[in-house]
Amino acid sequence: MEVIGNPGVMQQTVKEYLQRGNSIGFVPTMGALHEGHLSLVRRCREENDISVVSIFVNPMQFGPSGDFSRYPRNVEEDMAELSKAGVDILFMPGIEDIYPEGFATYVNVDHLSDKLCGHFRPGHFRGVATVVTKLLNIARPARAYFGRKDFQQFLIIKQLVRDLNLDTETVICPTVREADGLAMSSRNQYLSPEERNAATVIYRTLCEAKKMVISEKITFGEIRSFMERTLAAEPLVDEVQYASAFDPGTLEDISSLNVTIDKYEKEAVLLAIAVRIGSTRLIDNEPVEITGIKGGN
Ligand code: PAF
Repeated sequence: MEVIGNPGVMQQTVKEYLQRGNSIGFVPTMGALHEGHLSLVRRCREENDISVVSIFVNPMQFGPSGDFSRYPRNVEEDMAELSKAGVDILFMPGIEDIYPEGFATYVNVDHLSDKLCGHFRPGHFRGVATVVTKLLNIARPARAYFGRKDFQQFLIIKQLVRDLNLDTETVICPTVREADGLAMSSRNQYLSPEERNAATVIYRTLCEAKKMVISEKITFGEIRSFMERTLAAEPLVDEVQYASAFDPGTLEDISSLNVTIDKYEKEAVLLAIAVRIGSTRLIDNEPVEITGIKGGN
């Protein structure tokens, strides 16, 4: 595995691969890799000639809470995993490589960035959109891979790729879960054993809500109340930031529509949750496809 830190060197290397007719697949990460990241890497390797992974803990997407300095960093282990996984190039720039003195250009995706996590993390998606635009320009991948757990992030990246005419296909991959259903996340390492146990309420709530919305056909408003109540009943959940049914295209909260799933005119619904357990913010989501439900009992 070739390790490159300098964006200019990376661009030159990529150019040579492209000139030789190779397709490039790209997995952007902030390191502290887990099985979720590795599943993206495997898919990337299957579908492209050359696989590129980036590790860059992007200060621009963190708030002032200090989360940036405490974000887990395991560079040695990450490199060993990526090399074992057969990655061709690891791009690992420093902060000054990405944001040199005088940096003044930002990418902001309107509307989608203000919804869900956007309310609770002002500026977060501007930081994500800016760095991802830069990384895509540097790595010039045919395909870039993202996990479904960060569904809002995926939608925002898809939108910026379209709006800025970037020549990359954005690929969404399934959320990888622990045996008890907790979505894998680098932030899970912050949880104490008790908090880790309590965090299983998130996926449990999503699964129960999904069943209720499909089989009992209760309204999205009732689903929202059920989700909020179930999460709040877990003593270690300190804050329920959102727990509801959303339009998976616009991310509008549809709980106020007062309809059941069979009367909803779109093709899918997104059930999504963000909670704070102690000082750790956790998110998860589950899609509900509507095809086959309409017209049933
Ligand atoms: O999902 C992440 O790890 C980050 O938000 C990303 C896409 C690498 C941008 O910093």
